[in-house]
Amino acid sequence: MSGNVVVEAKNLVAGYLPGVNILNDCSLTAREGELIGIIGPNGAGKSTLLKAIFGQVNIRSGNILLNGEDITGLKANKLVGKGVAFVPQTNNVFPSLTIQENLEMGVFQNPKRFEERFAFVTSIFPDLATRRNQRAGSLSGGERQMVAMGRALMVDPSVLLLDEPSAGLSPVRQDEAFLRVKEVNTAGVTVIMVEQNARRCLQICDRAYVLDQGHDAHTGTGRELLNDPKMIELYLGNLAEM
Ligand SMILES: Nc1ncnc2c1ncn2[C@@H]1O[C@H](COP(=O)(O)OP(=O)(O)O)[C@@H](O)[C@H]1O
Ligand SMILES: [Mg+2]
Repeated sequence: MSGNVVVEAKNLVAGYLPGVNILNDCSLTAREGELIGIIGPNGAGKSTLLKAIFGQVNIRSGNILLNGEDITGLKANKLVGKGVAFVPQTNNVFPSLTIQENLEMGVFQNPKRFEERFAFVTSIFPDLATRRNQRAGSLSGGERQMVAMGRALMVDPSVLLLDEPSAGLSPVRQDEAFLRVKEVNTAGVTVIMVEQNARRCLQICDRAYVLDQGHDAHTGTGRELLNDPKMIELYLGNLAEM
């Protein structure tokens, strides 16, 4: 495989409570321009892996490299400055602020870049320009997800971490969310996306990791995993018939 390695998580052991490890020897690599999926059962540690990359979980051993630099244990504000953007699953917009103000928050460390980044973000999400003065709190779930992704993209990230961008959306809005994620990636952004909707995730990602009890139990291209009978039996279940 070609392309510079953007994120490399190596043998992570991490958790919230003393003596309880949620990630157990978990590794992941994302190369420049890749769309990486993370799937696996509820409670497998998918969100914890993203939070560990974003400095929100204690890492007990292993390390994380960003463009070759060790970022293990750095806090979120430092990571944002280094080009790591994170969209958590919930509470990912400021509801009382307008769309434009939400996007301004995305570049608060470097406000001079607003116009240039706003142009990029609204080229992918045109609605965010036309509705820039609307409060985020008045938007639908799908629209909020666009605002959250847009805000994260304002920093021109090296990598965009997305936690379940399709969660809680109607099927039509889910399709749209996956389409937008793909567009963001096609525009050149390296994406690491956690998804509950494993089948749809595998359909759009370049490679995926299947997490099981905090360990990267399987990896392969989206297509390989979609067509692997063992994978279907273990993790895709009825979704495989959709
Ligand atoms: N803030 C927290 N404090 C303690 N335990 C947590 C916390 N967040 C998640 N966990 C535990 O970590 C495990 C993995 O959770 P999570 O990473 O959210 O899984 P997933 O995203 O794959 O569904 C679960 O057992 C969950 O209860
Ligand atoms: Mg989760």
